Amino acid sequence: MTNLRIAVQKSGRLNEDSMNLLKDIGISIDNGIDQLKASARNFPVEVFYLRNGDIPQYLRDGVVDAAIIGENVLIEKGGDLEFVERLGFSKCKVSIAVPKESNASCLKDLNGMRIATSYPETVKKFLKEQNITADLHIINGSVEIAPNIGLADGICDIVSSGSTLFKNGLKEIEVLLKSEAVLAMSSKISDERRAILKTIQFRIQAVLKGRE
Ligand code: PRP
Ligand code: MG
Repeated sequence: MTNLRIAVQKSGRLNEDSMNLLKDIGISIDNGIDQLKASARNFPVEVFYLRNGDIPQYLRDGVVDAAIIGENVLIEKGGDLEFVERLGFSKCKVSIAVPKESNASCLKDLNGMRIATSYPETVKKFLKEQNITADLHIINGSVEIAPNIGLADGICDIVSSGSTLFKNGLKEIEVLLKSEAVLAMSSKISDERRAILKTIQFRIQAVLKGRE
């Protein structure tokens, strides 16, 4: 029997809400501890637990048919991928911030600055649109520490509660985009699997309506 292969974040902020959504639409997953793949008992679905940043490539290659992923990751790494549905959870912003005591307070002050980020494509595009030239330092995590250790003058990263910015003595000066979890789809999906995804999509719409 054909299964729809759907990717969810292995660990991290989206994982729990993603699994809850699958549960709420009536898909029960048999989850072995540390298993990276699991099947649903009552629905033609297989769930793959993957690293966030890897999911766009898996979709592109058609190794998975669909994914629950942060819109911010989709924008950064998957501009060519098909967006199916907004999911209403894991809301966050992608923002530029500088040390509280920095003289920089607006966009044009970023000119000539060193900005540390895990979202280089998003930042590059934004700065280009704003006609600002800055020097990007790409790091994969703990970005907010960069100004404190002299690696950068500012950062661009996800802001959710704002706690990481606060704890690192940073102030937000610009919001580049607002993001939430979305359902995305591979362009290589077969018709049969697309039909399964359609059913999931209808169920998701019903559940989200109920949550309103
Ligand atoms: C994420 C993100 C921000 C922080 C934002 O980091 O990179 O640093 O969460 O959330 P907040 O506004 O609620 O503090 P995470 O803790 O996932 O770790 P990482 O940067 O090492 O990936
Ligand atoms: Mg972080």
